[in-house]
Amino acid sequence: MAKVRTLFFCTECGNETPRWQGQCPACNAWNTLVEEPAPEKRRGGRAGTTSLRVASAMPAVRLADVDTVDSARWPSGIAEFDFVLGGGTVPGSLVLVGGEPGIGKSTLLLQVAARLQSAGHAALYVSGEESAAQTRLRSERLPERAGDVLFLAETRLESILERAAEHGPAVLFIDSIQTVYTDDIEGTPGNVGQVRECAARLQRYAKESGAAVFLVGHVTKGGTVAGPKTLEHIVDTVLYFEGTGSLDHRVLRATKNRFGSVDEIGVFRMGAQGLVPVENPSALFLGERSQHASGTAVAATLEGTRPLLVEIQALCTKASYGAPQRVSTGVDRQRLALLLAVLEKRAGLPFGQLDVFVNVVGGVRIAETASDLAVIAALASSVADRALPDDAIFIGEVGLSGELRAVSQLERRLAEAARMGFRRAFVPERAARVRANGIEPVGVRDVGALLERTLS
Ligand code: TYD
Ligand code: MG
Repeated sequence: MAKVRTLFFCTECGNETPRWQGQCPACNAWNTLVEEPAPEKRRGGRAGTTSLRVASAMPAVRLADVDTVDSARWPSGIAEFDFVLGGGTVPGSLVLVGGEPGIGKSTLLLQVAARLQSAGHAALYVSGEESAAQTRLRSERLPERAGDVLFLAETRLESILERAAEHGPAVLFIDSIQTVYTDDIEGTPGNVGQVRECAARLQRYAKESGAAVFLVGHVTKGGTVAGPKTLEHIVDTVLYFEGTGSLDHRVLRATKNRFGSVDEIGVFRMGAQGLVPVENPSALFLGERSQHASGTAVAATLEGTRPLLVEIQALCTKASYGAPQRVSTGVDRQRLALLLAVLEKRAGLPFGQLDVFVNVVGGVRIAETASDLAVIAALASSVADRALPDDAIFIGEVGLSGELRAVSQLERRLAEAARMGFRRAFVPERAARVRANGIEPVGVRDVGALLERTLS
């Protein structure tokens, strides 16, 4: 038997190299290369592709004659989902919904399928992970009526496309892309070559048929299955569904969107009857805030266009042995290191002998420097063991000399804070003139001034 030619694929970015290396030459990730059969032509099928080929029969058109996509969006009626997509599902688009196993991807998509079906957009739900009976049981827990959604338990791509051609759904769901395989290339389902080839074919199917296609992609920490990262450049939109194990709420986030803005989030709560959109996320994230406690401060972040108030907690304790620990959940570690250095140098707080733990409540990740001030306030409050004023929030970027810098869209953040009942907002000095209803902006020049106003 002829030896099968193999290549090495990066499970992070999908890059291929002929030889094994410790580090991926494309994305620089370590230990991510896996050996797989080279995508080769088999049984007269198409040669394995790594790039995307769209139908060549498309005529060229004048830009002025092109319909804009917004005129044709299909809202599901699940407001948070539509919002994250940029206003609803775009016909002909390929959307990847990634997330850890068990987070709720299948539940969410079944709810979306049912809603779209009810709105007159025929849905075909293909699952390689669950049987028809299991899916029906799930659907019975949901408030949506999923009875008319077509279900197919299939993992062979050719068969899926045949069924799709037969039923002509407006929306096709593939749960999950890691279970699907094509006859045309070697390799087991879930390997990088298979996943990419199947996704590229489904992209072609979406563009040719005008159906919207949703792919479920499991994100696994082990890296043994091809992660959704290898698909990001093939699909139009990438949504990630995340949450923390202990809490029942989930955050849906767009990280790539050819038809809308990225970094919009939608918040859901997983209940006994599926996922329920949370209309007032700030209330959820602030719900259990411990008032009059030290080491907690509220930040006003922007997630896409949406202001969101989150509680930042810090705990600084005497390090018992060795190098002091720096543990952070939700705040970038390097940013935390920088803020600690600023506090040490500019405000004289000694962290050298302290373990520092920082946590953003509710599993929210903060990607913005505008919450620097709240992190600083929480840290200083913990060191001093004194509570910050509990009617105040903290907004501002902190510079290396401890100065406060302006942030974007302050009015929006203030409006959300006022709505949530806050009365004062500590902001950079120059921004204190901003007009706000129901909340008083208090300008502070630098970190030292903030600590003087709030903790002394
Ligand atoms: P699921 O959608 O199967 O996750 P994924 O497809 O991302 O792997 O979600 C599974 C979890 O959600 C499971 O632990 C059961 C729970 N669940 C509820 O709490 N309520 C519900 O109504 C449903 C359908 C599931
Ligand atoms: Mg699932």
